[in-house]
Amino acid sequence: MARGVGMMILVNNDLMTRDQATIDIEDRGYQFGDGVYEVVRIYNGVFFELDAHLDRLERSAGEIKIVLPFTQEELKANLNKLIQQVPVQSGHVYMQVTRGVAPRNHPFPAKTEPVFVAYTKEYEKEPSRSPGRSVFTEDIRWLRCDIKSLNLLGNVLGKQFANEQNVDEAIFHRGEWVTEGSSTNVFIVKNNVLYTHPANHFILNGITRKVILSDANELGIQVEEEAFTKRDLLNSDEVFISSTTQEVRPIVEVNGQPIGTGKEGEITSSLHEKFTSRLT
Ligand code: PDD
Repeated sequence: MARGVGMMILVNNDLMTRDQATIDIEDRGYQFGDGVYEVVRIYNGVFFELDAHLDRLERSAGEIKIVLPFTQEELKANLNKLIQQVPVQSGHVYMQVTRGVAPRNHPFPAKTEPVFVAYTKEYEKEPSRSPGRSVFTEDIRWLRCDIKSLNLLGNVLGKQFANEQNVDEAIFHRGEWVTEGSSTNVFIVKNNVLYTHPANHFILNGITRKVILSDANELGIQVEEEAFTKRDLLNSDEVFISSTTQEVRPIVEVNGQPIGTGKEGEITSSLHEKFTSRLT
């Protein structure tokens, strides 16, 4: 997209064009990745699970001792202003908050004002949820993956590795234990039981993950929030990944090995159907 065309940016409480919005060279988000973010899906012009995302934003910020400079109500009002100004049918809003601007020095500055930025994106085409392929790669990230931090180098390197292998997602593991995808949560199904890594410091507690777990309960599917190994995954009946942008996406091959029948499994498709029924 041409720079600035049709794009409006919310910077703290003000809406401006992309060319008017500036980032200070000493913003700690830019220099240290010192901040947190969220991506919220927009379906039919409406934010999906906005409250859950804002709760997680506040939690992530709190874990790195950033106090959000506004209440969730104020933030919602600003996001609504943004979407009124630039209506989006199907897309997402990206938002981030950094610790603010200060002379470069590692410890927290005595005084900074957090900088909040948000903008929307309309999808030119819907993100693909066609059956995908994946590769394993060692999870080299830090040990607070529960914080949705701006530091995404481990994730970026993982996704790049997947791209270079011509597959859709990299599945991270620590030793034998599978954690999550480079930008998704990972689920397996074995003997009709749904497994996913527990929501602790090794993974991001996905909002889509939470929706899926509650849908699975409603559908009477047995759920175990339990870690599983690479071998468990390769021997499972179904694998799928989940995220705000990819919803419920079947993974039918990992490291060149077919999973189950090599096609989207029944539990995966029932969970996707249930997920989709929430959007209408
Ligand atoms: N990624 N795990 C990681 C490491 C993620 O980056 C994401 C989301 C998820 C899924 O979370 P949710 O269901 O709340 O989207 C799990 C977003 C979409 C991104 O960085 O673009």
